[in-house]
Amino acid sequence: MFLLTGVTGAAGSIVLREFVKQQVPVRVLVRDPAKAVQLAAAEPTIEVVVGDMLHADTLGPAMEGVDRALMISSPRDRMVETQCRFIDAAKQFGVRHIVKFGGKESGTTFDLTAFRGTRWHLEIEAYLEASGLEWTHLHPSQFMQMYLPEALTGVDSARHALVMPIGASRLAPVDIQDIAEVCVAMMRAEGIEGQAFDMTGPEALTSTEIVEQLSAATGTTFTYELVTRRRKRELHAEQGLPGPVIDLLDELYAGRAGSPEAHIDVSTHERFGVTPTTFAEFARRNAPAFTA
Ligand SMILES: NC(=O)c1ccc[n+]([C@@H]2O[C@H](COP(=O)([O-])OP(=O)(O)OC[C@H]3O[C@@H](n4cnc5c(N)ncnc54)[C@H](OP(=O)(O)O)[C@@H]3O)[C@@H](O)[C@H]2O)c1
Repeated sequence: MFLLTGVTGAAGSIVLREFVKQQVPVRVLVRDPAKAVQLAAAEPTIEVVVGDMLHADTLGPAMEGVDRALMISSPRDRMVETQCRFIDAAKQFGVRHIVKFGGKESGTTFDLTAFRGTRWHLEIEAYLEASGLEWTHLHPSQFMQMYLPEALTGVDSARHALVMPIGASRLAPVDIQDIAEVCVAMMRAEGIEGQAFDMTGPEALTSTEIVEQLSAATGTTFTYELVTRRRKRELHAEQGLPGPVIDLLDELYAGRAGSPEAHIDVSTHERFGVTPTTFAEFARRNAPAFTA
């Protein structure tokens, strides 16, 4: 039995959709009873169990009989505590193996310990490795979906502008759909214990190249608007983001601005037989969302 968490979120919902598409039976943990009811009605092939990763005493029914769990939770909202308590519960309830969905910046000189988002993932990985459970780490780079207008950190669709304070730094974003296909294959694979899998998209692109590809895919001209970090903070505040989230994003932009080149690593795609999606393909698939 496989257990998935985080399936109501950006990445987990696409991972779950791929499990359903491939008809691979799974159990999913959902903390909000209303979302659990909704999900169970929409996806009759999955088993939905209510529980909260922060509270081990709610996790017994979700973990009973589970061999391997794919652990995903929010990048903020007490991520370290949430995932470490889930690991404790997995030990208590006899789960053998946790696949940790983490994150890694593709910038060649990006300091993973200086940005809290990546530092938290490293802390959780160390905790998991010391837990005595079998472990596997998945390290996707930035999601291509972060450029969708509704993702807030990327495109301002009203002005058709990518507004960023990261200069000409390159990123190698990856499509969550590729990650989802890797997750399904990985959860069914033998011999992945004790390994870490890095995963980027197939190209390292500047923000200028991103908007060129968006323009070509949508037939609408997009521009890259380079702003200061201070201005980007103001824009996030106008979007209604809470102060701590703005601080976290500001740390990320500082790291990216200081790391101009990006690695490309599609070895995980290759290992699990997934064709890497290019940004142009992603932009064409999502053209209506970019121009709506
Ligand atoms: N953004 C990127 O470009 C990027 C790139 C690489 C890696 N990552 C990593 O990917 C991971 C997932 O990110 P995301 O954007 O998909 O997150 P998200 O949209 O915020 O979704 C988080 C999910 O975790 C669930 N969750 C949170 N706390 C929980 C708890 N205590 N008990 C049970 N479920 C809980 C949420 O449930 P509710 O619906 O109840 O809130 C939701 O389903 C993060 O660790 C992030 O660091 C992100």
